[in-house]
Amino acid sequence: MESRGRFGSRIGVVLASAGSAVGLGNIWRFSTEVGRNGGAAFILVYLLFVLFLAMPVLVGEFVIGRASKANTVDCYRRLAPGERWHMMGYLSVLAGFMVLSFYSVVAGWTLHYSCSSLMGHISGGLDHAVLFNSFVSHPFRPLAYLFVFLLLTHLVVSRGVQNGIERFSKCMVPLLFIIILILVFCSLNMPGAREGLRYLLQPDFSRLTTPVVLSAVGQAFFSLSVGIGCMVTYASYFDGETRLMSSAFKICMIDTLVAVLSGFIIFPAVFSVDGISADAGPGLVFITLPSVFDSAFSGLPVLGYCFSLLFYVLLLLAALTSSISMHEICTAFILERFSLSRRWAAAIVTAVCIVLGSACSLSFGAWSEVKIFGMGFFDLFDYATAKFIMPLGGIVISLFVGWRLERRLVMDELTNGGHVARISARVVLFLLRWVAPVGVAIIFVNGLIGR
Ligand code: PHE
Repeated sequence: MESRGRFGSRIGVVLASAGSAVGLGNIWRFSTEVGRNGGAAFILVYLLFVLFLAMPVLVGEFVIGRASKANTVDCYRRLAPGERWHMMGYLSVLAGFMVLSFYSVVAGWTLHYSCSSLMGHISGGLDHAVLFNSFVSHPFRPLAYLFVFLLLTHLVVSRGVQNGIERFSKCMVPLLFIIILILVFCSLNMPGAREGLRYLLQPDFSRLTTPVVLSAVGQAFFSLSVGIGCMVTYASYFDGETRLMSSAFKICMIDTLVAVLSGFIIFPAVFSVDGISADAGPGLVFITLPSVFDSAFSGLPVLGYCFSLLFYVLLLLAALTSSISMHEICTAFILERFSLSRRWAAAIVTAVCIVLGSACSLSFGAWSEVKIFGMGFFDLFDYATAKFIMPLGGIVISLFVGWRLERRLVMDELTNGGHVARISARVVLFLLRWVAPVGVAIIFVNGLIGR
């Protein structure tokens, strides 16, 4: 078996983990949720949940990963031999396959929209709803983009932890920031900027209903990639010097900043065109925004061309830095469990995701009638992971670290053997023991009965 990979630098640790966190969740899913749930009030609740629920679980995943130096199944076996905690690990690997499969479908759409923007096809008074629907339901085209996207993910993962994942994230995450800043600048100069900002910054608490609060918790988990062992896997490549709490804090800051900045890109643009509403749901980015590019830049088509190209390339790169982390959950498990080479393990994961991803993609077209528990493959995978496995993982991880692991081991990991202030470690431990399991249990139960 190949020797275990590890990240080569502290900045590599933060950028690779931030790369996993920053993805379609920050731009596509966040703006959809903000648009649907009334703007600033949703964002405030989301921030609270990031701080008190998702961040402690993220630190918990780091503790498990670094203390065990193993994949998401064997980590539990090493830390609690002979017990059943590793069943959660198997569920995480399954979730890794499922998330990567449906995520790659949407990522394939972003690849298609990037290519279309490059060719200048996202303009010219077209009916974007018709274009989008005919693309996603086409028998082959979305599948082709799905394959290409998975192949790109495969290429990065098969090159290994330091040469593939770390190197790729170190280039891409800063590039993402540059693109975001350019787009924020353009968007803030659009006529609807004031109204868009008001929507994002002035909370209307009357919009805060129970489902809105629960969506905010789900969004916090999805956006930080916690609950499915992704960060456990990454942390198993950390060295003893990495500071777990401050790395987790930086990752949360970067992830939240990207989410809020992408709101600064999307909403000023949307409010710049009369008759377009912000609550379009998942079509916001693929149907509403192209119409905005058309109308807002009708006098300046070159600017519209650059804006739309940069925007879809941003989505594509963000999707890639996340998909490699989902791929790595499964690759690390297969590689270590079956003593395979990284190349073979990665090839197996890619092949399985091509099959599952195709099923998800076809659920928008030829297989739209195929339903399991009343849902198509895409919705089923999305539901099973975001509403079931991730919250369950959050509960199990916080209970495992908060109550099952020895307190001394956890404190040692959190303080790097006494080199970091103990007070913040105590706060994190308190959140892991009491706040996170209870808070997440509420979403979990709601997810099950609220369907
Ligand atoms: N956090 C990623 C995003 O925001 C999605 C993700 C979920 C990545 C689970 C890895 C694991 O898009």
